[in-house]
Amino acid sequence: MWLSQGEKRGIQTRPEVSEMPLPQKKRWESMAKGLVLGALFTSFLLLLYSYAVPPLHTGLASTTPEGAAPCSPALSEPEALTPANGSAGGCQPRRDIVFMKTHKTASSTLLNILFRFGQKHGLKFAFPNGRNDFDYPAFFARSLVQDYRPGACFNIICNHMRFHYDEVRGLVPPNATFITVLRDPARLFESSFHYFGSVVPFTWKLSGRDKLAKFLQDPDRYYDPHGYNAHYLHNLLFFDLGYDSDLDPGSPQVQEHILEVERRFHLVLLQEYFDESLVLLKDLLCWELEDVLYFKLNARRASAVPRLSGELYRRATAWNVLDARLYRHFNASFWRKVEAFGRERMAREVAALRRANERMRRICIDGGHAVDAAAIQDSAMQPWQPLGTKSILGYNLKKSIGRRHAQLCRRMLTPEIQYLMDLGVNLWVTKLWKLIRDFLQW
Ligand SMILES: *[C@@H]1O[C@H](CO)[C@@H](O)[C@H](O)[C@H]1NC(C)=O
Ligand SMILES: *[C@@H]1O[C@H](CO)[C@@H](O)[C@H](O)[C@H]1NC(C)=O
Ligand SMILES: *[C@@H]1O[C@H](CO)[C@@H](O)[C@H](O)[C@H]1NC(C)=O
Repeated sequence: MWLSQGEKRGIQTRPEVSEMPLPQKKRWESMAKGLVLGALFTSFLLLLYSYAVPPLHTGLASTTPEGAAPCSPALSEPEALTPANGSAGGCQPRRDIVFMKTHKTASSTLLNILFRFGQKHGLKFAFPNGRNDFDYPAFFARSLVQDYRPGACFNIICNHMRFHYDEVRGLVPPNATFITVLRDPARLFESSFHYFGSVVPFTWKLSGRDKLAKFLQDPDRYYDPHGYNAHYLHNLLFFDLGYDSDLDPGSPQVQEHILEVERRFHLVLLQEYFDESLVLLKDLLCWELEDVLYFKLNARRASAVPRLSGELYRRATAWNVLDARLYRHFNASFWRKVEAFGRERMAREVAALRRANERMRRICIDGGHAVDAAAIQDSAMQPWQPLGTKSILGYNLKKSIGRRHAQLCRRMLTPEIQYLMDLGVNLWVTKLWKLIRDFLQW
């Protein structure tokens, strides 16, 4: 309480503030809020850091022999999965998976799929400790995994991280499947700008209604590569994958990095072709159709999604040229994979997936569609919102669902943070942050 009263008092005793034209006052307020929150959050992170990290950090260097060695699976592994009957060839379902979760790419939807699969088969997740990412934007390190012990083996790693291959490699069996998801970089940039813009201080200089257009007119004028959170607004895919997102586009390293991604990842999904991607994934992992059913999670309200026009689209692509080359490469290899899979077979399987999703929608979702945050009755179904807006949609679970589907429905609709808690992840930093935001009503 004291904070908001203090804020109010501060405004009353400063006539020059209350005399400001309204929009300007609002901006002043939101900037002050931003500074207070930023300071608080940073202190909490430092606190977390000093608590959670010290003893293990010495083992961070991945050049140590122990770093290169694969984990050694425990003897009491969960029993082998029953062979999938639905999949062709009677293959063995794969359950060791590294999902490099990129930002703003429908990756929350994929996360839900992995949570469900892991939960269903009692698999061991490598989860972060205290928050829902691995200290992003710092590089991933094994020591950040909850309950990590040298030699420990995990089945699934899927939370946000800045990728560090050697560190991840050592946590999973040698035959683990590596996947990630990309998205058209211009669209991704637009989404990231709206979602993260308010936590990137160099965008505060931008005024007027269309900040995005203004930024793209002359990005170099505003962009500061060393600015706080700058990575969100320049080649974010490259950054998340662990590379230098400010690399000179003419450098031969760009192509080397792209080829490295190709060597390391067994499948690169595309957000634009999400259903086709899931069909390829299901085939690669030898999973069943039910395993890849989904509802779109963490999506924005349509009115909050301005589409980039031709000229701005071109500029956004040019600004994120490293990501554009990455995307072009994997768009091409994606369609080669579809070709190898069989175009007709793909069309059939995509149709089957959509029918099954549609059926689940009718069974699970009250009203049959996503709704605004304010219309979500059960707090366990409230999605996490970006700072300053409530533009992320969520769902209401139907009141009466048959026993056969009740569990699947609930799991499919549970937002990421709540699902992590259900899976036993300690999220004290995230919860504290939510408390502060609720308190400031932001
Ligand atoms: C798989 O199919 C075989 C016969 O084709 C059947 O006997 C078996 O019970 C099925 N397994 C599962 C898990 O459905
Ligand atoms: C992966 O390797 C483990 C042993 O490390 C083995 O039990 C499992 O069957 C293998 N999985 C596949 C799909 O090859
Ligand atoms: C991806 O590749 C397909 C097939 O070649 C093409 O039609 C599509 O325009 C490409 N998408 C982008 C965004 O480049």
